Amino acid sequence: MVGYGFIQTILMEIRMYGDAFFAVASVLVAILIIPSDWSMKLTNEWTQEPHMRVLSRDELSLYDGASGSKGLYLAIIGQVFDVQKGDRHYGVNGGYHGMAGKDASLAFISGDFTESGLIDDVSTLSPSQVVALYDWLAFYQKDYTPIGRLVGRFYTEKGLPTEALMKLEELLFEGQRLKSQLQAESQKFPSCNSEWSPTLGGRVWCSTKSGGVERSWAGVPRKLFSPGSSRSRCVCVEDPSSGSPNMQDYQGCHPDSDSCTLEV
Ligand code: HEM
Repeated sequence: MVGYGFIQTILMEIRMYGDAFFAVASVLVAILIIPSDWSMKLTNEWTQEPHMRVLSRDELSLYDGASGSKGLYLAIIGQVFDVQKGDRHYGVNGGYHGMAGKDASLAFISGDFTESGLIDDVSTLSPSQVVALYDWLAFYQKDYTPIGRLVGRFYTEKGLPTEALMKLEELLFEGQRLKSQLQAESQKFPSCNSEWSPTLGGRVWCSTKSGGVERSWAGVPRKLFSPGSSRSRCVCVEDPSSGSPNMQDYQGCHPDSDSCTLEV
């Protein structure tokens, strides 16, 4: 599983920069650095680990990997990890050095590595972005050594979860719920195949593997609108007679046809 929110971040950047190389590189990076199956420790499990240290911001800043520093740590959602073995990323010459010695949770989603972006205020994130942020947390839990908790936004001086952390976990659960809803929807209504050429125009069609969903039926193309939006995407519908208020036929296309030419 590649984090959905991370992919969203990447897709957003692809739209912004419109660069094919960037697109391919980003997808490769997502596959390279994000493991596919992990479990994640949430706050209540962490509070049962008494050997964990509780660090202040100032203490954590002493572990930024600069010469004379005490080591190389970073924090994400208030959980502190020793990232010394990732020195090539987080050390003084690494591309992600800005994340060392602090909690820069927001930058994991925004991709803003400037000083004003390297912050732990994640209150602007949507539920699906919070899921992506927790995917990063799971990555550190899997690949790096846990040290403890950072006192501040997410943990109290006793190392207990703050109100802000509990709210964030609620958003996480909401994001996970939305994600499984989307996954279920993509099984029921898999995306169509599509092609476009300057001479023939556009075409959408259904096959038993379209949308990456292997199935015994191909279905017929329909426009599926997101509730409250004028934007639609093409989905394959097994039983079009069941109907849905968010669905529309393609104009000029026979309702039983598995392929529709798009009107320009
Ligand atoms: C939101 C945007 C991004 C974030 C938050 C991010 C963050 C990170 C982090 C934290 C690491 C180190 C992982 C570790 O500890 O092993 C990493 C590795 C890496 N990133 Fe990014 N990254 C982003 C986007 C990109 C993009 C757009 C590219 C390329 C075009 C890229 C290229 C790489 C590469 C090549 C590695 C090294 C992979 C390896 O050697 O294992 N990153 N990224």
